[in-house]
Amino acid sequence: MRIADFALERYFARWEFAVKHVLCASDVEGCSMAELLALADEETAAMWSGLKLGYTESTGHPLLRLEIATLYDSIGPDDVLVFAGAEEAIFCLMSTSLQEGNHVIVTWPGYQSLYEVARSTGAHVSLHVLREEDRWSLDVDRLIRSFKPETRMVVVNAPHNPTGMLPTEGEWRRLASECASAGIRLVADEVYRFLEHEGASTLPAGADLDERAVSIGVMSKSFAMAGLRIGWLATRDRAVLDRCARMKDYTTICSSAPSEVLALIGLRAHERVLARSREIVAANLAVLDAFFAENAETFSWVRPRGGSTGFPRLVPGGAAGASADAFAARLVEATGVLLLPSTTFGSGDSHFRIGLGRTDLPEALGKLGAFVGRPIASR
Ligand SMILES: Cc1ncc(COP(=O)(O)O)c(C=O)c1O
Repeated sequence: MRIADFALERYFARWEFAVKHVLCASDVEGCSMAELLALADEETAAMWSGLKLGYTESTGHPLLRLEIATLYDSIGPDDVLVFAGAEEAIFCLMSTSLQEGNHVIVTWPGYQSLYEVARSTGAHVSLHVLREEDRWSLDVDRLIRSFKPETRMVVVNAPHNPTGMLPTEGEWRRLASECASAGIRLVADEVYRFLEHEGASTLPAGADLDERAVSIGVMSKSFAMAGLRIGWLATRDRAVLDRCARMKDYTTICSSAPSEVLALIGLRAHERVLARSREIVAANLAVLDAFFAENAETFSWVRPRGGSTGFPRLVPGGAAGASADAFAARLVEATGVLLLPSTTFGSGDSHFRIGLGRTDLPEALGKLGAFVGRPIASR
Protein backbone atom coordinates (compact mmCIF):
# COMPACT_ATOMS: atom_id res chain seq x y z
CA MET A 1 0.00 0.00 0.00
CA ARG A 2 1.33 3.47 -0.92
CA ILE A 3 -0.01 6.51 0.84
CA ALA A 4 1.11 10.13 1.04
CA ASP A 5 2.36 11.48 4.37
CA PHE A 6 -0.32 12.82 6.70
CA ALA A 7 0.91 16.43 6.68
CA LEU A 8 -0.94 17.56 9.82
CA GLU A 9 0.26 14.58 11.84
CA ARG A 10 3.86 15.13 10.67
CA TYR A 11 3.58 18.78 11.82
CA PHE A 12 2.18 17.70 15.20
CA ALA A 13 4.89 15.06 15.54
CA ARG A 14 7.44 17.90 15.36
CA TRP A 15 5.67 20.39 17.63
CA GLU A 16 2.77 19.12 19.75
CA PHE A 17 4.72 17.97 22.78
CA ALA A 18 7.54 20.50 22.45
CA VAL A 19 5.53 23.72 22.92
CA LYS A 20 3.86 25.45 25.85
CA HIS A 21 0.49 26.19 24.20
CA VAL A 22 -1.18 24.08 21.52
CA LEU A 23 -3.54 26.79 20.27
CA CYS A 24 -4.59 24.68 17.28
CA ALA A 25 -5.75 21.43 18.93
CA SER A 26 -8.99 19.95 17.64
CA ASP A 27 -9.83 18.00 20.79
CA VAL A 28 -11.38 19.35 23.96
CA GLU A 29 -9.15 19.57 27.05
CA GLY A 30 -8.84 15.98 28.23
CA CYS A 31 -10.81 14.83 31.28
CA SER A 32 -8.64 13.63 34.15
CA MET A 33 -8.91 10.02 35.33
CA ALA A 34 -10.16 11.27 38.70
CA GLU A 35 -12.92 13.34 37.06
CA LEU A 36 -13.96 10.42 34.90
CA LEU A 37 -13.88 7.73 37.59
CA ALA A 38 -16.03 9.97 39.80
CA LEU A 39 -18.76 9.53 37.14
CA ALA A 40 -18.77 5.71 37.35
CA ASP A 41 -21.95 3.98 38.49
CA GLU A 42 -21.94 0.85 40.64
CA GLU A 43 -21.68 -1.51 37.69
CA THR A 44 -18.90 0.35 35.86
CA ALA A 45 -16.94 1.00 39.09
CA ALA A 46 -16.91 -2.77 39.65
CA MET A 47 -15.93 -3.39 36.03
CA TRP A 48 -13.02 -0.99 36.48
CA SER A 49 -11.70 -2.37 39.75
CA GLY A 50 -12.12 -6.00 38.66
CA LEU A 51 -10.82 -5.52 35.13
CA LYS A 52 -8.60 -8.28 33.78
CA LEU A 53 -6.10 -7.16 31.16
CA GLY A 54 -6.76 -9.80 28.57
CA TYR A 55 -7.84 -9.42 24.94
CA THR A 56 -11.30 -7.97 24.46
CA GLU A 57 -14.17 -8.75 22.08
CA SER A 58 -13.08 -7.72 18.61
CA THR A 59 -16.34 -5.90 17.83
CA GLY A 60 -16.18 -3.93 21.09
CA HIS A 61 -17.51 -4.61 24.60
CA PRO A 62 -21.27 -5.33 24.32
CA LEU A 63 -22.13 -2.75 27.00
CA LEU A 64 -20.01 -0.14 25.22
CA ARG A 65 -21.74 -0.84 21.90
CA LEU A 66 -25.09 -0.62 23.66
CA GLU A 67 -24.17 2.79 25.08
CA ILE A 68 -22.86 4.06 21.74
CA ALA A 69 -26.12 2.96 20.11
CA THR A 70 -28.09 5.29 22.42
CA LEU A 71 -26.49 8.26 20.62
CA TYR A 72 -28.54 7.29 17.52
CA ASP A 73 -32.25 6.76 16.81
CA SER A 74 -32.12 3.69 14.59
CA ILE A 75 -28.88 2.02 15.58
CA GLY A 76 -28.68 -1.09 17.77
CA PRO A 77 -25.58 -2.47 19.49
CA ASP A 78 -24.92 -4.87 16.60
CA ASP A 79 -24.86 -1.94 14.19
CA VAL A 80 -21.75 -0.61 15.95
CA LEU A 81 -18.12 -1.63 15.50
CA VAL A 82 -15.54 -0.24 17.92
CA PHE A 83 -12.06 0.85 16.78
CA ALA A 84 -8.86 2.42 18.09
CA GLY A 85 -10.04 5.97 17.43
CA ALA A 86 -11.90 7.33 14.44
CA GLU A 87 -8.64 7.05 12.54
CA GLU A 88 -8.69 3.25 12.48
CA ALA A 89 -12.39 3.32 11.63
CA ILE A 90 -11.70 5.55 8.61
CA PHE A 91 -8.82 3.36 7.51
CA CYS A 92 -10.84 0.14 7.66
CA LEU A 93 -13.92 1.69 6.06
CA MET A 94 -12.16 3.30 3.11
CA SER A 95 -9.79 0.45 2.43
CA THR A 96 -12.54 -2.16 2.37
CA SER A 97 -15.26 -0.16 0.55
CA LEU A 98 -13.37 1.37 -2.36
CA GLN A 99 -11.30 0.31 -5.33
CA GLU A 100 -9.93 1.52 -8.63
CA GLY A 101 -12.65 2.88 -10.87
CA ASN A 102 -14.76 4.18 -7.96
CA HIS A 103 -15.35 7.88 -7.46
CA VAL A 104 -15.56 9.55 -4.04
CA ILE A 105 -16.46 13.12 -3.05
CA VAL A 106 -14.95 14.51 0.16
CA THR A 107 -15.38 17.90 1.86
CA TRP A 108 -12.17 19.98 1.79
CA PRO A 109 -9.98 21.45 3.25
CA GLY A 110 -10.25 18.71 5.81
CA TYR A 111 -8.93 15.77 7.74
CA GLN A 112 -6.47 14.19 5.33
CA SER A 113 -7.18 10.51 5.99
CA LEU A 114 -10.76 10.97 4.76
CA TYR A 115 -9.45 11.48 1.22
CA GLU A 116 -5.91 10.05 1.38
CA VAL A 117 -6.91 6.52 2.41
CA ALA A 118 -9.63 6.66 -0.26
CA ARG A 119 -7.01 7.68 -2.85
CA SER A 120 -4.67 4.90 -1.77
CA THR A 121 -7.25 2.34 -2.90
CA GLY A 122 -6.98 3.66 -6.46
CA ALA A 123 -10.38 5.36 -6.25
CA HIS A 124 -10.70 8.81 -7.86
CA VAL A 125 -11.34 11.50 -5.25
CA SER A 126 -13.07 14.84 -5.96
CA LEU A 127 -12.69 17.45 -3.25
CA HIS A 128 -15.82 19.43 -2.42
CA VAL A 129 -14.21 22.77 -1.72
CA LEU A 130 -15.69 24.84 1.11
CA ARG A 131 -15.22 28.54 0.39
CA GLU A 132 -14.56 31.32 2.83
CA GLU A 133 -16.63 33.71 0.69
CA ASP A 134 -19.63 31.39 1.31
CA ARG A 135 -18.82 31.54 5.04
CA TRP A 136 -17.51 27.97 4.64
CA SER A 137 -21.03 26.64 4.07
CA LEU A 138 -21.75 23.29 2.42
CA ASP A 139 -22.96 23.95 -1.13
CA VAL A 140 -25.38 21.05 -1.44
CA ASP A 141 -26.42 21.93 -5.02
CA ARG A 142 -22.81 22.03 -6.21
CA LEU A 143 -22.06 18.80 -4.35
CA ILE A 144 -25.01 16.99 -5.95
CA ARG A 145 -23.98 18.29 -9.39
CA SER A 146 -20.60 16.58 -8.90
CA PHE A 147 -22.19 13.09 -8.60
CA LYS A 148 -21.04 10.73 -11.39
CA PRO A 149 -22.34 7.30 -12.39
CA GLU A 150 -19.26 5.77 -10.70
CA THR A 151 -19.61 7.77 -7.44
CA ARG A 152 -19.70 5.30 -4.57
CA MET A 153 -19.30 7.54 -1.56
CA VAL A 154 -19.89 11.09 -0.36
CA VAL A 155 -17.86 11.94 2.73
CA VAL A 156 -18.96 14.91 4.80
CA ASN A 157 -17.33 15.94 8.05
CA ALA A 158 -19.78 18.13 10.00
CA PRO A 159 -19.28 19.93 12.32
CA HIS A 160 -16.22 20.44 10.20
CA ASN A 161 -12.54 20.50 11.01
CA PRO A 162 -11.07 23.07 10.43
CA THR A 163 -13.76 25.55 9.31
CA GLY A 164 -16.61 24.88 11.74
CA MET A 165 -19.01 24.32 8.81
CA LEU A 166 -22.34 22.83 9.81
CA PRO A 167 -25.17 22.43 7.29
CA THR A 168 -28.74 23.27 8.22
CA GLU A 169 -30.94 20.26 8.96
CA GLY A 170 -32.80 20.84 5.67
CA GLU A 171 -29.55 20.81 3.66
CA TRP A 172 -28.33 17.73 5.49
CA ARG A 173 -31.54 15.77 4.93
CA ARG A 174 -31.61 16.77 1.26
CA LEU A 175 -28.04 15.59 0.74
CA ALA A 176 -28.77 12.28 2.48
CA SER A 177 -31.85 11.69 0.38
CA GLU A 178 -30.10 12.61 -2.91
CA CYS A 179 -27.27 10.21 -2.02
CA ALA A 180 -29.77 7.47 -1.21
CA SER A 181 -31.66 7.89 -4.49
CA ALA A 182 -28.41 7.86 -6.46
CA GLY A 183 -27.25 4.69 -4.67
CA ILE A 184 -24.30 6.55 -3.13
CA ARG A 185 -23.17 5.79 0.40
CA LEU A 186 -23.13 8.86 2.68
CA VAL A 187 -20.26 8.73 5.15
CA ALA A 188 -20.80 11.22 7.97
CA ASP A 189 -17.70 12.00 10.00
CA GLU A 190 -19.47 13.20 13.14
CA VAL A 191 -16.54 13.28 15.55
CA TYR A 192 -17.48 16.87 16.55
CA ARG A 193 -21.20 16.12 16.84
CA PHE A 194 -22.83 17.63 19.97
CA LEU A 195 -20.52 20.66 19.84
CA GLU A 196 -22.91 22.98 18.00
CA HIS A 197 -22.65 26.67 18.78
CA GLU A 198 -25.39 29.15 19.64
CA GLY A 199 -28.34 28.92 17.34
CA ALA A 200 -27.24 25.66 15.68
CA SER A 201 -28.75 22.35 16.69
CA THR A 202 -27.38 18.81 16.58
CA LEU A 203 -28.05 17.29 13.16
CA PRO A 204 -29.65 13.89 12.78
CA ALA A 205 -26.84 11.35 12.50
CA GLY A 206 -26.05 10.20 8.97
CA ALA A 207 -26.65 6.57 9.94
CA ASP A 208 -30.19 7.47 11.03
CA LEU A 209 -31.03 9.08 7.68
CA ASP A 210 -30.34 6.16 5.39
CA GLU A 211 -29.80 2.46 5.96
CA ARG A 212 -26.62 2.40 3.86
CA ALA A 213 -25.12 5.54 5.41
CA VAL A 214 -22.25 5.26 7.87
CA SER A 215 -21.61 7.49 10.90
CA ILE A 216 -18.11 7.85 12.34
CA GLY A 217 -17.83 8.73 16.04
CA VAL A 218 -15.07 8.98 18.62
CA MET A 219 -14.41 9.69 22.29
CA SER A 220 -11.63 12.17 21.42
CA LYS A 221 -13.34 15.43 20.55
CA SER A 222 -16.76 16.32 22.04
CA PHE A 223 -16.26 13.70 24.75
CA ALA A 224 -12.79 15.06 25.65
CA MET A 225 -11.06 11.66 25.97
CA ALA A 226 -8.64 11.45 23.03
CA GLY A 227 -6.19 9.37 25.04
CA LEU A 228 -8.63 6.47 25.22
CA ARG A 229 -8.30 5.90 21.46
CA ILE A 230 -11.85 4.63 21.22
CA GLY A 231 -13.88 5.35 18.11
CA TRP A 232 -16.59 3.58 16.14
CA LEU A 233 -18.58 3.10 12.98
CA ALA A 234 -22.37 2.97 13.19
CA THR A 235 -24.48 1.74 10.29
CA ARG A 236 -27.46 -0.49 9.60
CA ASP A 237 -25.51 -1.93 6.67
CA ARG A 238 -24.05 -5.01 8.37
CA ALA A 239 -22.04 -6.00 5.28
CA VAL A 240 -19.93 -2.86 5.73
CA LEU A 241 -19.25 -3.70 9.39
CA ASP A 242 -18.42 -7.28 8.47
CA ARG A 243 -15.81 -6.18 5.91
CA CYS A 244 -14.33 -3.72 8.40
CA ALA A 245 -14.18 -6.36 11.15
CA ARG A 246 -12.14 -8.58 8.82
CA MET A 247 -9.71 -5.72 8.14
CA LYS A 248 -9.48 -4.91 11.85
CA ASP A 249 -8.04 -8.41 12.36
CA TYR A 250 -4.94 -6.99 10.64
CA THR A 251 -4.80 -3.64 12.44
CA THR A 252 -5.54 -3.83 16.19
CA ILE A 253 -7.70 -7.01 16.52
CA CYS A 254 -9.51 -5.54 19.51
CA SER A 255 -9.62 -2.39 21.61
CA SER A 256 -7.74 -1.71 24.85
CA ALA A 257 -9.61 -3.22 27.81
CA PRO A 258 -9.13 -0.23 30.18
CA SER A 259 -10.14 2.21 27.45
CA GLU A 260 -13.37 0.35 26.75
CA VAL A 261 -14.46 0.53 30.39
CA LEU A 262 -13.45 4.20 30.69
CA ALA A 263 -15.35 5.04 27.49
CA LEU A 264 -18.39 3.25 28.87
CA ILE A 265 -18.20 5.33 32.06
CA GLY A 266 -17.90 8.52 30.01
CA LEU A 267 -20.77 7.67 27.68
CA ARG A 268 -23.14 6.66 30.48
CA ALA A 269 -22.52 10.16 31.88
CA HIS A 270 -22.46 11.79 28.45
CA GLU A 271 -24.76 14.69 29.36
CA ARG A 272 -22.30 15.84 32.03
CA VAL A 273 -19.26 15.17 29.87
CA LEU A 274 -20.73 17.13 26.97
CA ALA A 275 -21.84 19.99 29.24
CA ARG A 276 -18.21 20.37 30.38
CA SER A 277 -16.94 20.42 26.78
CA ARG A 278 -19.60 22.90 25.65
CA GLU A 279 -18.77 25.20 28.52
CA ILE A 280 -15.05 25.26 27.64
CA VAL A 281 -15.76 25.84 23.96
CA ALA A 282 -18.39 28.56 24.53
CA ALA A 283 -16.10 30.50 26.88
CA ASN A 284 -13.24 30.29 24.37
CA LEU A 285 -15.48 31.37 21.48
CA ALA A 286 -16.44 34.51 23.38
CA VAL A 287 -12.74 35.30 23.96
CA LEU A 288 -11.99 34.70 20.26
CA ASP A 289 -14.89 36.86 19.07
CA ALA A 290 -13.56 39.76 21.13
CA PHE A 291 -9.98 39.14 19.97
CA PHE A 292 -10.86 39.04 16.29
CA ALA A 293 -13.12 42.09 16.57
CA GLU A 294 -10.18 44.02 18.05
CA ASN A 295 -7.73 42.67 15.46
CA ALA A 296 -9.87 42.89 12.33
CA GLU A 297 -7.08 44.59 10.37
CA THR A 298 -4.83 41.60 10.95
CA PHE A 299 -7.18 38.59 10.92
CA SER A 300 -10.43 37.79 9.16
CA TRP A 301 -12.72 35.51 11.20
CA VAL A 302 -15.71 33.49 10.04
CA ARG A 303 -17.29 32.31 13.25
CA PRO A 304 -17.59 28.48 13.27
CA ARG A 305 -21.13 27.06 13.55
CA GLY A 306 -19.98 23.95 15.32
CA GLY A 307 -17.02 21.85 16.39
CA SER A 308 -13.88 22.79 18.26
CA THR A 309 -11.87 24.54 15.56
CA GLY A 310 -11.99 27.70 13.45
CA PHE A 311 -10.04 28.77 10.36
CA PRO A 312 -9.06 32.46 10.44
CA ARG A 313 -7.21 34.19 7.58
CA LEU A 314 -4.32 36.62 7.63
CA VAL A 315 -5.44 39.94 6.16
CA PRO A 316 -3.02 41.11 3.44
CA GLY A 317 -1.01 44.08 4.69
CA GLY A 318 -1.91 43.23 8.31
CA ALA A 319 0.51 43.04 11.24
CA ALA A 320 0.85 39.22 10.99
CA GLY A 321 2.15 39.33 7.40
CA ALA A 322 0.77 37.35 4.47
CA SER A 323 2.16 33.84 5.00
CA ALA A 324 0.49 31.64 7.63
CA ASP A 325 3.49 29.30 7.50
CA ALA A 326 5.98 32.06 8.24
CA PHE A 327 3.73 33.60 10.90
CA ALA A 328 3.24 30.26 12.70
CA ALA A 329 6.99 29.57 12.57
CA ARG A 330 7.91 32.98 14.05
CA LEU A 331 5.16 32.78 16.65
CA VAL A 332 6.09 29.36 17.97
CA GLU A 333 9.79 30.20 18.19
CA ALA A 334 9.16 33.47 20.01
CA THR A 335 6.27 32.50 22.32
CA GLY A 336 5.78 28.72 22.41
CA VAL A 337 2.25 29.17 20.98
CA LEU A 338 1.46 26.66 18.23
CA LEU A 339 -0.86 27.41 15.29
CA LEU A 340 -1.58 25.07 12.40
CA PRO A 341 -0.98 26.77 9.04
CA SER A 342 -3.29 25.95 6.13
CA THR A 343 -0.31 24.51 4.21
CA THR A 344 -0.74 21.38 6.37
CA PHE A 345 -4.20 21.00 4.77
CA GLY A 346 -2.69 21.66 1.32
CA SER A 347 -4.98 24.67 1.10
CA GLY A 348 -2.91 27.78 0.45
CA ASP A 349 -0.81 29.78 2.88
CA SER A 350 -3.25 32.40 4.22
CA HIS A 351 -5.25 30.57 6.89
CA PHE A 352 -4.49 28.82 10.13
CA ARG A 353 -6.47 26.52 12.38
CA ILE A 354 -7.25 27.66 15.87
CA GLY A 355 -8.56 25.23 18.51
CA LEU A 356 -11.48 26.16 20.77
CA GLY A 357 -11.18 23.29 23.23
CA ARG A 358 -8.19 24.02 25.43
CA THR A 359 -8.45 25.85 28.75
CA ASP A 360 -5.19 27.76 28.21
CA LEU A 361 -6.66 29.55 25.17
CA PRO A 362 -6.98 32.97 26.88
CA GLU A 363 -3.33 32.87 27.96
CA ALA A 364 -2.11 31.61 24.58
CA LEU A 365 -4.17 34.18 22.71
CA GLY A 366 -2.81 36.92 24.98
CA LYS A 367 0.72 35.89 23.92
CA LEU A 368 -0.30 35.82 20.26
CA GLY A 369 -1.86 39.30 20.59
CA ALA A 370 1.24 40.72 22.28
CA PHE A 371 3.44 39.18 19.56
CA VAL A 372 1.39 40.68 16.76
CA GLY A 373 1.36 44.04 18.56
CA ARG A 374 5.16 44.20 18.66
CA PRO A 375 6.97 46.25 15.99
CA ILE A 376 7.92 43.84 13.14
CA ALA A 377 11.67 44.45 13.57
CA SER A 378 11.58 43.12 17.16
CA ARG A 379 9.77 39.84 16.31
C1 LIG B 1 -12.68 15.08 11.10
C2 LIG B 1 -11.88 14.12 11.87
N1 LIG B 1 -12.12 12.80 11.73
C3 LIG B 1 -11.42 11.88 12.41
C4 LIG B 1 -10.42 12.26 13.28
C5 LIG B 1 -9.63 11.18 14.00
O1 LIG B 1 -9.93 11.15 15.34
P1 LIG B 1 -8.98 10.30 16.32
O2 LIG B 1 -7.63 10.94 16.21
O3 LIG B 1 -9.52 10.48 17.65
O4 LIG B 1 -8.96 8.92 15.84
C6 LIG B 1 -10.13 13.60 13.46
C7 LIG B 1 -9.04 14.02 14.36
O5 LIG B 1 -8.59 15.14 14.34
C8 LIG B 1 -10.88 14.55 12.74
O6 LIG B 1 -10.67 15.86 12.87
